[in-house]
Amino acid sequence: MGTTLSVGSTTNLPLTMDLGSSVIKIGVIGYGYWGPNIVRNFHGQGQSRVVSVCDQSPKSLQRVRQSYPDMHVTSDCNELLRSTDVDAIAVVTPVRTHYELAKAALENGKHVFVEKPFTSTSAQAEELIELAERKNLKIMVDHTFLFTGAVRKIRKLIDEDALGNLYYYDSTRVNLGLFQHDVNVIWDLAPHDLSIMDYLIAEKPQAVVATGERHLNGVADVAFITLYYPNNMIGHINVNWLSPVKVRTTLIGGEKKMLFWNDIEADEKIKVYDKGVQFSNGEAVYRQLVSYRTGDMWAPKVEQVEALKAEAAYFIECITQNKDPFNGGEAGLRIVRILEAADKSLSQKGRVIEL
Ligand SMILES: NC(=O)c1ccc[n+]([C@@H]2O[C@H](COP(=O)([O-])OP(=O)(O)OC[C@H]3O[C@@H](n4cnc5c(N)ncnc54)[C@H](O)[C@@H]3O)[C@@H](O)[C@H]2O)c1
Repeated sequence: MGTTLSVGSTTNLPLTMDLGSSVIKIGVIGYGYWGPNIVRNFHGQGQSRVVSVCDQSPKSLQRVRQSYPDMHVTSDCNELLRSTDVDAIAVVTPVRTHYELAKAALENGKHVFVEKPFTSTSAQAEELIELAERKNLKIMVDHTFLFTGAVRKIRKLIDEDALGNLYYYDSTRVNLGLFQHDVNVIWDLAPHDLSIMDYLIAEKPQAVVATGERHLNGVADVAFITLYYPNNMIGHINVNWLSPVKVRTTLIGGEKKMLFWNDIEADEKIKVYDKGVQFSNGEAVYRQLVSYRTGDMWAPKVEQVEALKAEAAYFIECITQNKDPFNGGEAGLRIVRILEAADKSLSQKGRVIEL
């Protein structure tokens, strides 16, 4: 990783203002594509401030300086990790670095906000969970979609039993790029859908099948993942970096109602259809009658919130009120386990892998 991460002697950052003890001071590691969103949202909270940003790239640090002239920046993450001026570390670097950075942060007594997917292996995730528990520190995994108005609304509909027993969850998340170098398209894009499914569906998947192909840089860039749940519920995720158009749609079929979520839509992101199919016996018992129900469609109001803003506020709340986040290490681990199984299945052209 370039830098040797250390635990031990503590240092102070040259801060320009005294923030007082009630403000949670955040150090952010990684200011590439996603890092600026993390910095903006933690810096903009009433109860937290970003006190330092670390990135190995001088260009990234230059971008921080342009947006936040007074912010401390460094290319040595030990400065943040060992600083007494930092309460929590946000890890916004490529996946292969998450474990080492999060571990160093926990060992130095910092709470951790870590990007999805949590770690590269489930063994790493288990170790971090155990370390955080031992040190009484929080881990939150950035499963951003769980804080969107759309996912919150769908969860409410499911909790109210508006959809009835679920038949299937079918999602498409495709676009041209952004190609990642250290992970395949499943590890890059499917954590979004897997974390949403983990949050929405009470049952946990029992088996996974994944197929896909690599075309350009040696990792799968197109993939199809199927998840088998108890009671015939089935999940399917289509992820693709080689699509000419951006599509982010999800169909959820239920016994009572069916739902279509188009995340690209500005308004009416969610549409609930009173449609269904019923089989009943005719006069002669051997004749089955099929009836199709095509009732109303309605588009429930979806709250317009910046998901990351709500998530950042929740992280601070979990620290200050000593709450265990629902998107903590365990949730991150469940997703990593499915990703590992999907990789195993992918490498064997779609063998069924039990979870
Ligand atoms: N939650 C979301 O919706 C979402 C969206 C995009 C990316 N992400 C996640 O965010 C993470 C980063 O993705 P990205 O697209 O911003 O990547 P990126 O490559 O654009 O940026 C990563 C940055 O980290 C820096 N870096 C790498 N190793 C470092 C180290 N050891 N110390 C300091 N700096 C280091 C790099 O110089 C780079 O500037 C990934 O885990 C990705 O999955 C999440």
